[in-house]
Amino acid sequence: MSMSDAVKHKKLVFSGMQPTNTLHLGNYLGALKNWVKIQDEMPCIYCVVDMHAITAVGYGKPEELTRSIREVAAAYIAAGVDYTKHPIFNQSRVPAHAELAWIFNCVARMGWADRMTQFKDKAGKHKERVSVGLYTYPMLMAADILVYKATHVPVGEDQKQHLELARDIAQKFNTDYNAPDFFPLPEPVIVEAGTRVMSLRDGAKKMSKSDESDMSRINLTDGADTIAQKIRKAKTDPNPLPDSEKGLEGRPEAENLINIFAALSDRPRSDVIGEYAGKQFSEFKTALADLAVAKLTPIAGEMRRLLADSTEIDRILKDGAERVSAIAEPVIRETKKLVGFLG
Ligand code: TYM
Repeated sequence: MSMSDAVKHKKLVFSGMQPTNTLHLGNYLGALKNWVKIQDEMPCIYCVVDMHAITAVGYGKPEELTRSIREVAAAYIAAGVDYTKHPIFNQSRVPAHAELAWIFNCVARMGWADRMTQFKDKAGKHKERVSVGLYTYPMLMAADILVYKATHVPVGEDQKQHLELARDIAQKFNTDYNAPDFFPLPEPVIVEAGTRVMSLRDGAKKMSKSDESDMSRINLTDGADTIAQKIRKAKTDPNPLPDSEKGLEGRPEAENLINIFAALSDRPRSDVIGEYAGKQFSEFKTALADLAVAKLTPIAGEMRRLLADSTEIDRILKDGAERVSAIAEPVIRETKKLVGFLG
């Protein structure tokens, strides 16, 4: 962000996750863990992006979607987001997101949207069969952030391109409507460790909710035995662990497990490599499983407790939506005025 941006816009964090299937270790290390950290530094808003969820796999499954919205909210709280200070809400409750997304659909150019690699990945070979919503998804994401004039967005690396698009949209709107600095240019906040957690079965693929193999990911709701088994069975190569960062080159599975260890233990990667240099994977995996179980099972336990009675979560989400609406409403009102809408 330029100096003028930092001065003109108050620091505000916004981020979100899609309620589709269960959250996994990649979501936790790439995003959620950092959300909890950053909440001590700046005010934050954390959203369950349920409208994004119906662009693809969440479509046509109402009960599953509702369950998933609650589960994601429970994960935020269980991981340590302080919802009394930093509102948690579900996107569809605040209509300003959809209103601004429409305007942004008209700001963004086809060429910009065409470049989005996530769309290409998700659409695969059947572009003509995916929803139009999947294509316009990044414009809704830009609206999520900018309807609050948020300045910082903690995400995993896979969202970086979407964030660049959000900046381009903000800039073009400001220029086209002669409103310099109306929208801030939001910054991605991407931390080094854990920013790209890979599949446990294939070090070249990112850990993902949509991978067919459950063994490829550690779900936030997995129990201790499941976590240990998935780590034990994680793909590795036959060599012992290297003694330097350079030794990880060309060994994506080893690198992934070391990264996970470093991120879970909040230690530099070099430190972890130093400790396990020359050791066998079996030994390292036992230590990693213990660490993962110690860090993740309390979150799963707290999620279970929260989900046992959904009235509390529903109340938290409704309250959060009311609080963030008060921020979004003046922004959308002013945006519409700038566009020239009457009313
Ligand atoms: P979603 O729901 O796919 O993922 C939620 C967050 O988890 C991160 N993540 C990962 N990080 C590291 N390694 C992985 N394997 C991994 N998989 C997922 C993602 O980077 C993300 O931070 N478009 C967003 C949701 C969204 C959003 C927003 C985010 C909608 N509006 C506004 C920020 C601001 C998405 O699909 O995330």
